[in-house]
Amino acid sequence: MTVTVRVPAKVNAQLAVGPARPDGFHDLANVFLAVGLYDEITVEPAAELRITCSGPGADQVPLDRSNLAARAAIALAEWTGRSPDVHIHIAKDIPVAGGMAGGSADGAGALLACDTLWGTGAGRAELLELAAGLGSDVPFSLVGGAALGTGRGERLRELPVGGIFHWVFALAEGGLSTPAVYREFDRLAAERGAPVPAPVASEVLLDALRDGDAVALGAALGNDLQPAALSLYPSLAEVLAVGTKAGALAALVSGSGPTTAFLASDAAVARTVSDALRESGTCRTTRVTEAPARGATVLP
Ligand code: C5P
Repeated sequence: MTVTVRVPAKVNAQLAVGPARPDGFHDLANVFLAVGLYDEITVEPAAELRITCSGPGADQVPLDRSNLAARAAIALAEWTGRSPDVHIHIAKDIPVAGGMAGGSADGAGALLACDTLWGTGAGRAELLELAAGLGSDVPFSLVGGAALGTGRGERLRELPVGGIFHWVFALAEGGLSTPAVYREFDRLAAERGAPVPAPVASEVLLDALRDGDAVALGAALGNDLQPAALSLYPSLAEVLAVGTKAGALAALVSGSGPTTAFLASDAAVARTVSDALRESGTCRTTRVTEAPARGATVLP
């Protein structure tokens, strides 16, 4: 028997970052939006835990127990009192180390796939708790849609979304390390000298999501990690400029980057923005997609 789960990538419509906490994490007001780029996680019984990976960037994905999918299988196996004897295959389409929660998607996918394979009887609350133990973004990968994440991003409130939003993503050469981007955020904050305010979700942005209003959403998008990502990867500024000039409502770095995200008013504008980005040679490739997307889903 095999089980395959499809899990979406995310973009942060708002990523408000507070000061570093004593545990090294940052309190967030994190408005997650799941977008239609997916990894597929397939699990089947095996003699021992084994991971394989295919797709773009697969050679950069660790195949040992540091992989979030492996950690998910181990955590769920421990919870149920069994051994994690599965072969996990990750078919990647979400950019690796791209700021779109690809690793978190694989963790969430493995959790749901193993839960289904083993028939553990873990409920949604248990799976969400195990997910939060794996990483700050993993619970959202399970839930999908749109949600406000507080704490380090793992405490979720699902958000209503009143329409379809059209996005273009420009994929960059190479990746950025999320901890390194947060460290750069701290360094830039120390350089400024002013205290970092507590993160607050934008009511205007939540209203725009609820109303399906792309123009209002575009005006409200914001990512506090963007200056840090640009500082570590300065050429992203050119990518943002190309997409803006081509007609995007708004352009921003996706999460910790280096993927950049462009909100378009409709599907035709999204294609125009995508074409301009590709022709500019400022990015590796582009993807056009819609949001919100469903969270982790077992495929028939
Ligand atoms: O939770 P996760 O393992 O995905 O976080 C990866 C890294 O990102 C953390 O080790 C930390 O450096 C940084 N991080 C943070 N504050 C958050 C989430 C992540 O500083 N709220």
